[in-house]
Amino acid sequence: MYVHIPFCTTKCSYCAFSVSHNGLGLQGEYFEALAAEVRHYLTNGPFLLGDGGFDTVYFGGGTPSLVEPSLLGNFLASIPVAIGAEVTVEVNPESARKDLFASYVDFGVTRVSIGVQTFDDRVLRYFGRNHDSYGAERAIGLACDTEGLSVGIDLVYGSEVEDDESWRSTISKVAPLAPKVSHVSAYALGIEPRTRLHHLRASSQCEDVLAARYLMADEVFEGCGLANYEVSNWSRPDRRCLHNLNYWNWGDYLGVGLGAHSHFGRLRWWNDPSLKRYIAAVKLDGSGFIGGEELEDSQIATERLMLALRTKKGLSEDELKVLTSKYGNEKLLELFEVESGRASLRPTGRLLADGVFRALSS
Ligand SMILES: C[S@@+](CC[C@H](N)C(=O)[O-])C[C@H]1O[C@@H](n2cnc3c(N)ncnc32)[C@H](O)[C@@H]1O
Ligand code: SF4
Repeated sequence: MYVHIPFCTTKCSYCAFSVSHNGLGLQGEYFEALAAEVRHYLTNGPFLLGDGGFDTVYFGGGTPSLVEPSLLGNFLASIPVAIGAEVTVEVNPESARKDLFASYVDFGVTRVSIGVQTFDDRVLRYFGRNHDSYGAERAIGLACDTEGLSVGIDLVYGSEVEDDESWRSTISKVAPLAPKVSHVSAYALGIEPRTRLHHLRASSQCEDVLAARYLMADEVFEGCGLANYEVSNWSRPDRRCLHNLNYWNWGDYLGVGLGAHSHFGRLRWWNDPSLKRYIAAVKLDGSGFIGGEELEDSQIATERLMLALRTKKGLSEDELKVLTSKYGNEKLLELFEVESGRASLRPTGRLLADGVFRALSS
């Protein structure tokens, strides 16, 4: 289950997510709507969980760490969660407190994903973040000292104010933090429409620079025991994010909250992105549903291939051979490495993942 928490205190310059700055006063009402929406799907929807409950629950945002922790705890207590489930909360560094993390563990949370973005204060200011590098290190320290919590961090590279030295210094801070920090996501900055950076006509670094920074990060992370398992994700082998793996393996999921997306079999649907309309829709109909689609076999095959290429699990060696020979692209095999019959892209191949996908699907 994905639970979207849309509240933020300010809007970061690169962020295109569905968030609300002045809606925090509605958090109680919002959590009532979330619980009602889950009840709606458990009674009317296709999510027949049996006795098991949800294998993973992911509170993403927005800023889930901004909400009253008891709301999160009561919500978790009200839904069926499987024994041993992975329960993640995205945390912004400025919210980090020892007692907050302790209460998360009491509620059954097993991992936090901390939005560090960079350890360079100049870049943090450019991103309009509400924390500095000291705040990020403090948050990581508090989370790592909390028994029962796995700790991951998010990084973003390639802004126009970042140089090689800035990125090198950020990733070099990860090595001494591992293995306590057991998961890192590193994303190339995207300048998305309707963001402040887009409005200011900012640009990110050119593709060659992004590629060099990606390879730099891959080398450092692999060197400290964090293995790549999806284009932008590295972890200790026992600390992969099961929730995200389910997306990449084309699994079913229920998304609740404004703007959340869901997937079941051939069906995909999504919720209204407005806070007030979402709450009103749940009161009226039980869900925030606003649109959906039924996928054709060919669409499913295409999406599965695209997702598989992004992951370490990759494709079976045989499937890859069939696809490359079908399109006369045998040279592409050089971009893959094969382990126990599974073929996944090498680091330099990952840089070309979109092109490889086009070549294997056209
Ligand atoms: C759901 S978002 C934000 C979570 C949390 N509120 C925070 O700011 O840390 C999860 C991650 O996506 C990444 N991200 C968001 N917008 C991005 C963009 N435009 N380009 C690259 N990465 C982005 C950031 O690393 C962010 O931590
Ligand atoms: S990046 Fe995170 S904190 Fe910043 S506006 Fe987006 S969701 Fe909120």
